[in-house]
Amino acid sequence: MRLASRFASFPKYPLADVPQIKRELIARGVDVIDLGAGDADLAPPPAAVTALRQAAQDPLMSRYAFQLGLPAFREALAAWMQQRFGVALDPFREIVPLIGSKEGIAHIAFAYVGPGDRTILPDPGYQPYVGGTLLAGGEPYIVPLRPEHDFLVPLDSLPGDVVRRARVLYLNYPNNPTAATAPRAYLQQAVDFCRAHDMLLVYDNAYSEIGFDGYRPPSILELPGALEVAVEFHSFSKTYNMTGWRLAWAAGNADALAALSRLKAFVDTGQFLAVQAAGVAALASHAAWLPGNVATFQARRDVLAAEFQRLGLEVTVPRATMYLWVPVPGGEPSEAFARRALLEQGLVLMPGAALGLGGEGYFRAALTQGPERLKEAAARLGRLL
Ligand SMILES: Cc1ncc(COP(=O)(O)O)c(C=O)c1O
Repeated sequence: MRLASRFASFPKYPLADVPQIKRELIARGVDVIDLGAGDADLAPPPAAVTALRQAAQDPLMSRYAFQLGLPAFREALAAWMQQRFGVALDPFREIVPLIGSKEGIAHIAFAYVGPGDRTILPDPGYQPYVGGTLLAGGEPYIVPLRPEHDFLVPLDSLPGDVVRRARVLYLNYPNNPTAATAPRAYLQQAVDFCRAHDMLLVYDNAYSEIGFDGYRPPSILELPGALEVAVEFHSFSKTYNMTGWRLAWAAGNADALAALSRLKAFVDTGQFLAVQAAGVAALASHAAWLPGNVATFQARRDVLAAEFQRLGLEVTVPRATMYLWVPVPGGEPSEAFARRALLEQGLVLMPGAALGLGGEGYFRAALTQGPERLKEAAARLGRLL
């Protein structure tokens, strides 16, 4: 059967065969170390697990959540945003629960983007920016993230005709995959830019809680004027090691969130209420639980960065996220390099080009394993080099 033309517009995923190769290697007895996906081996807060168990026993929790969801979840999210960022939000107008932030980020394009419209997005970047744009019939304008711009999207050098037609600007700091962070002045520039050009600012803040050496990433909503143009996406996935639970939220401009909520009503019926109840418990455990988890990632960062430096790799030690973003030595294409690492050393790394052609020349290593495994991964990389 013929596929719709929009299907053909999706970029190819260069290492689509990695899971299959990994399975074959494991079946042959190879001890594979996977530093590919940002999916840590760590446990969620025990309070969340206990709350899920209890909530699942309540028959009321088995009913449809709808877009409203659990009112206590919205209220807990608003209280958390107030406490963490000093941002006051109406839990029923300025917050929307999501089934993972990927879902919300992909869907919001349908409310703002149509044929003839453009979006501006970072490359390399998270898939739903380009996915949402293409599915909504828009045309992405892809901006390479380069070290000479500190991996920021250079807003003052975008072509005028692109800016005129652009409906959405996607930004993500702390950034996956480059691990770059954005200064407050840049965030203000982004807010002002979107206000001046009547553009929605989709701010992906999935890594807001994984900051190191005392760095606490800000919310875009802290900046004056942001509530006029911005929607910020947050997730339980990385903050609480809850990737598989599919729990997240959007916060910000009330009109944009009303639109997101309305269009989601045509697509989904909300996340399991018991998972939302577990989210309330995770948020309540934040102050007691989070510092230990961040310390774990920081220790892993220190180990892997030191090992990579010992190998002569050019590592910038990140102050946020769970990634090292490293130039591929010797100018080898990143996909070929990652493929060799997997086939010759049983080591899964993410080639930069798999996250967008702007990522060519780099590989990403995720801090998803303990220190001993990270040392072993570095030793294997040393043998590969
Ligand atoms: C940039 C970015 N945004 C959002 C997410 C979180 O997605 P979700 O909430 O759908 O698990 C990720 C996870 O990989 C990410 O890297």
